[in-house]
Amino acid sequence: MSATLIDGKQVAAALRAQLAARVATLPYTPGLAVVLVGDDPASAVYVRSKDRAAAAAGIAASTIRLPADTSEAALLATIARLNADPAIDGILVQLPVPPQIRQVAVIEAIDPAKDVDGFHPLNVGRLHDGRPGLVPCTPLGVMRLLAHVGVSVRGARALVLGRSAIVGKPMAALLTNADATVTVAHSRTRDLAAECRRAELLVAAVGRAEMVRGDWVANQAVVIDVGINRLPDGRLVGDCATAECATHAAAITPVPGGVGPMTIACLLENTVAASVVRRAGLCPAPHQGSALDPAGA
Ligand code: GUN
Repeated sequence: MSATLIDGKQVAAALRAQLAARVATLPYTPGLAVVLVGDDPASAVYVRSKDRAAAAAGIAASTIRLPADTSEAALLATIARLNADPAIDGILVQLPVPPQIRQVAVIEAIDPAKDVDGFHPLNVGRLHDGRPGLVPCTPLGVMRLLAHVGVSVRGARALVLGRSAIVGKPMAALLTNADATVTVAHSRTRDLAAECRRAELLVAAVGRAEMVRGDWVANQAVVIDVGINRLPDGRLVGDCATAECATHAAAITPVPGGVGPMTIACLLENTVAASVVRRAGLCPAPHQGSALDPAGA
């Protein structure tokens, strides 16, 4: 293996320490509410680690657990209560929600100023316009990792593999806003391998175990592996065959321990940012301008 392994755990710990120092200077305790509907074990694990990381950063995290048969109206009523609660700065409803609840109704019900997932259409629009707003945590974490390891994004040929609303699309927007030349590839792309081989920066977010092989990676490319896939033998692997890819790449993120830890650190970053903006009263109604950019710059 010749590539540098990018240590996401270490970068995330540094970001969390910075946030804790910032929170210690605030005259209030930022509040994060996580809503978990049902008892999906994987979601329960995520939610517990979010709680622990928030507490360590001095953020008051509360988890609201609702039964799996909760109606959409009941969940929307919970969200309305959190929207109106001045002690709550960030609201995250763990996805997926059970089938009787429309995910889009949930996302659109969250106050955009408290939308620490960055999934509300207002925040999606701001991101695609290149204006300040709350940005989805995983792609934001990727940008933070790239900055930390000194990867120069400006002018780079970047390929985002995957077009999900949670990762692929916002990732492409962030890279475009940072002056990369971005291609979005997906399951219907003709000759994925050839597209990948052209990339100086490859971000894989397709959710297919070890799909990206070593000979898909250009010499000295930077490879960011967002995938977390569990194999039948219980091992966790990414979307890239890490050891193979590392023989070509200049740097690569491992799975686990790469992008994953950055997601939670960026959720905390978003919670602190949302708290500062909202509590300073910089949060006009959406039609009056951007919540995070009152000057409309
Ligand atoms: N489920 C898996 N990833 C996420 C995420 O980033 N946010 C939320 N709310 N749910 C998720």
